[in-house]
Amino acid sequence: MGTKNTRKVNITETVLRDANQSLIATRMPFSDMEDILTALDEAGYHSLECWGGATFDSCLRYLNEDPWQRLEKIRSRVKKTKLQMLLRGQNILGYKHYPDEVVRKFVAKSVECGMDIFRIFDALNDFRNIEVAVDETKKRKAHAQGCICYTTSPIHNLENYAKMVKQLEEMGVDSICIKDMAGIMGPQEAYDLIKTIKETVKLPVYLHTHSTTGLGPITQIKAVEAGCDGLDCAISSFSGGTSQPSTETIDYALKQMGYTTGLNDSVLKKINDFFKPMKAKYIASGQMDAFVMGTETDALVYQIPGGMLSNLIAQLKAQNAMDRLDEVLEETPRVRKDLGYPPLVTPMSQMVGVQAAANVLSGERYKNVSKEVKAYLRGEYGKAPGEIDPELIKKVLGDEKPIEGRFAETLEPQFDKVKAELGKLARSDNDVLSYIAFPQIAEKFFKDREERTTTTVSYTIVKK
Ligand code: CO
Repeated sequence: MGTKNTRKVNITETVLRDANQSLIATRMPFSDMEDILTALDEAGYHSLECWGGATFDSCLRYLNEDPWQRLEKIRSRVKKTKLQMLLRGQNILGYKHYPDEVVRKFVAKSVECGMDIFRIFDALNDFRNIEVAVDETKKRKAHAQGCICYTTSPIHNLENYAKMVKQLEEMGVDSICIKDMAGIMGPQEAYDLIKTIKETVKLPVYLHTHSTTGLGPITQIKAVEAGCDGLDCAISSFSGGTSQPSTETIDYALKQMGYTTGLNDSVLKKINDFFKPMKAKYIASGQMDAFVMGTETDALVYQIPGGMLSNLIAQLKAQNAMDRLDEVLEETPRVRKDLGYPPLVTPMSQMVGVQAAANVLSGERYKNVSKEVKAYLRGEYGKAPGEIDPELIKKVLGDEKPIEGRFAETLEPQFDKVKAELGKLARSDNDVLSYIAFPQIAEKFFKDREERTTTTVSYTIVKK
């Protein structure tokens, strides 16, 4: 008894990134996390997810923070624990594809600022869209984690998932992550999937899920029983709901089952005591809404992510068409099938939802097609997981042929050109990358920064 489970399960803390993003739309300023970073470093986590996803955008757009400096500041306080980020492959942090040299530069600069682990994914699981980022990560001696977006469909079976992990292994990734962005993976699915992956490749396997539907913690435990090497958790005051399962709870359960986590319980308590009043503050200011904290099982009924469901409802309300919701919910899986079963992750979830609503409200399927869906049909997002309905391609594209190759190869290099255009406004190559990722908001951020600097300088002179 007690000897069979001495295996270590790695825990990644998400409070700085995914919990922050899922519960308060990534509005936590650096000043709210600064004083707990040393404790986070002492807790014994495998890694701290602290960057990427929406943090970059939010820093520039809402928080008036330089995202690169935030990363450097975290690095200067977190000396032992690995820092981790989420990278959308060829899309970097946005929704469109960037040329390879920009992707490489972005990875290189992130490593320079202190990033250790790059979790790299593509919304369609088209791994041609992550290979450049993976390659550069390896070149910079950082850890490349190849990610698979989890979804269910007739073609997303164990056999296909096994093929995908084989592909990732051949690409040279250091570990695998299964990303269940909607929290719809059940415990048995997790068990079977992780078991299959462990039988297929020798790499460490991580599971990323959310508590949205309430399945999260149960699914995590079954995943560990199947051999999963690491889990994403959020400190309890920032856990549950659309965030991750609670760090302390999973740590407690795993230790009781005989696993080791390396986590120090008293440091975890200290971290949670720090974040508790922070949570109260966000609730009081209205930044944390009751809705995101609850358990939402509709996603299981409709097999679509909770976020997508609330978007659909908002869209129909705006068009005074809430009475058509049931029809739209029936149309959604049909559109997804026509499009070759894309995983319902950003940006595909929005594209499928908007199209399903348009098909119902206009009274004719694909009478109106968004420019995003057109680009998707042209192959600009990559290869669909399944076959796209040939009739639909014909109807929308006419004689135009979809591209077969990697869309990024059609893009011209842009770094040097943008750098020259920005001139003095960009103070570093990092600034140039911020601008390429988010042109308007980065420009505004640079201009505000100039103004702040000038004000400070004149203030100093006056004082003298
Ligand atoms: Co997530």
